[in-house]
Amino acid sequence: MTTQNIAFFDTTLRDGEQSPGCSMYLEEKISMARQLERLGVDVIEAGFPFASEGDFRSVAAVADECRETTVAALCRTVPSDIQRAAEALASASRPRIHTFIATSDIHLQYKLKRSRDEVIDMAANAVRTARQYVDDVEFSAEDATRSDVDYLCQVFDAAVSEGATVLNVPDTVGYTLPGEFAGLIRAVKDRVVRDRDVTISVHCHNDLGLAVANSLAALEAGATQVECTVNGIGERAGNASLEELVMAIAVRGDKMPYSNKIDQTQLYPSSQLLSSIVGFGVQPNKAIVGRNAFAHEAGIHQHGVLSNPLCYEIMTPESVGVPHNNIVLGKHSGRHALISRYAELGYEFDDQQIAEIYTRFVALADRKKNIYDQDLMALIPVRVPVKLAA
Ligand code: KIV
Ligand code: ZN
Repeated sequence: MTTQNIAFFDTTLRDGEQSPGCSMYLEEKISMARQLERLGVDVIEAGFPFASEGDFRSVAAVADECRETTVAALCRTVPSDIQRAAEALASASRPRIHTFIATSDIHLQYKLKRSRDEVIDMAANAVRTARQYVDDVEFSAEDATRSDVDYLCQVFDAAVSEGATVLNVPDTVGYTLPGEFAGLIRAVKDRVVRDRDVTISVHCHNDLGLAVANSLAALEAGATQVECTVNGIGERAGNASLEELVMAIAVRGDKMPYSNKIDQTQLYPSSQLLSSIVGFGVQPNKAIVGRNAFAHEAGIHQHGVLSNPLCYEIMTPESVGVPHNNIVLGKHSGRHALISRYAELGYEFDDQQIAEIYTRFVALADRKKNIYDQDLMALIPVRVPVKLAA
């Protein structure tokens, strides 16, 4: 079997940030972007520069900071939006402009109040304009899964003719089903992409709890980029969860022979960092990164796991970066325990940094009985240039 490479497009800082309670300050976005780069994502969508001055500055700062990763900025098909995105990306080493417009009749009629022909023109003009600024242009057909397939293919074809390098097929309202979505991806591949060098991307929302299943079905049908977020945050019920996609592909490599650049041991630290930034964690039974994801309560399970973890575990906690020691950190813990926990989470600090963090740790432990990993992540001063522990 040949191995297809899959690109991970992370939109935690854009779609994720759009979810209630998830807005982030500039410094927090920078530290999350650094962690995403460490995690190995291919693309970081850093924001929507036209939306606000803050978003503009965040995209520019992430572009300055992340030199290895493609940094994408979202914009509508409006020329002023596109120009703003290009300005925000001016210092990026690998800039991508991501322009979008809706293609479903319901959006055309009630939201855009445009005809189908007008929307084709707007899509084509936007891609042409964006290509004047950058070589890498992604075009998204919002609400693609509720759009007429013939029309969707026409819009995509116009975008490719103007130089789009990536065609994104969003399931904006989380409506599609895996088999149906795979059929749509095959249609785009056969009728639009054909033998042209264009990436098919998917962007699935989780309104029916199917975002990951739909994304995986799309990969099997020919998509080679998945859009996702850490902890699955995003509009309404969220986006496809990055950690679930990564581990589904890793654990079921027998059925999904895909390669990617993700460092799996950075999944848990990424999840913890995001939780500390947005101020809430994932539900305890969340796959891969939830507190109970590797916990065994029932006696029969405990016996099985003690005899051989493979009885009830399809992956190890260590493989996703969950620290394996169960030292409980609290107000009586010393610096060594703290340093060792941070090392397990992938961080090391010099003496001065650890002194500062330890002072904050003790103050927190005086107020809070249990100190979780996400609390530790929150104690790291954002401007400390954190290094990955060996
Ligand atoms: O859900 C969606 O359709 C989007 C697009 C902007 C890609 O987030
Ligand atoms: Zn979305």
